[in-house]
Amino acid sequence: MNQADLIWMNGEFVAWEDAKVHVLTHALHYGTGVFEGVRAYETARGTAVFRHQDHIDRLFKSAQMYYMDVPFTKEQIREATLELIARNGLKSCYIRPVVYRGAGPMGLYPLDCPVDVFIAVWEWGAYLGEEGKQRGVTGKVSSWRRIGHDALVPLAKANGQYLNSVLAKIEAEKAGYEEGILLDQRGMVCEGTGENLFVIKDGVIATPGFGSAILGGISRLSAITIARDLGYELVERDITRGELYIADEIFMTGTAAELTPLREIDDQPVGEGRPGPVTREIQNVFEDALHGRAERYAHRLDVVPAPAPAP
Ligand SMILES: Cc1ncc(COP(=O)(O)O)c(C=O)c1O
Repeated sequence: MNQADLIWMNGEFVAWEDAKVHVLTHALHYGTGVFEGVRAYETARGTAVFRHQDHIDRLFKSAQMYYMDVPFTKEQIREATLELIARNGLKSCYIRPVVYRGAGPMGLYPLDCPVDVFIAVWEWGAYLGEEGKQRGVTGKVSSWRRIGHDALVPLAKANGQYLNSVLAKIEAEKAGYEEGILLDQRGMVCEGTGENLFVIKDGVIATPGFGSAILGGISRLSAITIARDLGYELVERDITRGELYIADEIFMTGTAAELTPLREIDDQPVGEGRPGPVTREIQNVFEDALHGRAERYAHRLDVVPAPAPAP
């Protein structure tokens, strides 16, 4: 992870090393924050943020679900992000906006604490590795179940909720696998610790729906659109664990991981043990969309304005 120069905090651009919070920040104690993971890519039109508005909309929705009024408009957050990328001189980067309960009265009732916002950007390669994107990664069904609808809001991208993913990630890595796959409370396949999941069998693509307690991934939506645009049948339905073992192909999608195939699950090869043709086809179009090479999806890119010429 490469450090950038500036971080945007509550409306100010501050030096990376000065972007600090008080130890009594409510979110540090109780996880009362929401966040996004967004990416900007180098394209022929300049650096561009992929599906920027969708990420900002989800950020505000997540905040609303936890009773936080974001003290900036969506447009202010968008402009701050574009300016932050430009001022850091980044051609491509990962973007992490966080809206959280700041320092205020302790105790579980958070509504008297301020709502603070920061946006950090840094250069970050593919989360599960460039090699993982090419060769596929290994996965393990986690002993941890994905948080249920009756305890938290799986659809919200909330900081505290990620302790669930953290446990599954540690378990998977300690056991020698690259990613953990969580089942939902019913024992149906849900998603990776930071990715949605797609299973391909006999040319039909299936992915768990909201009933499986997934996070509504924005890359998931892109993969669904691309698959259908390519003419594939794609269904959102419950997927059993056994279907992972008989799948022809499996891939995962996430802003950090982009589209990463799974080559092995629970020590068994997925299909031939290497990314299959359907995965490859969708992955290629997905990569083209991210990097501005697909005219059809060019409207998904929010281009960082070039700095005004010196007078
Ligand atoms: C738990 C979880 N599921 C799925 C995803 C994929 O979501 P997106 O494609 O919006 O990045 C993420 C990443 O944000 C995640 O953390």
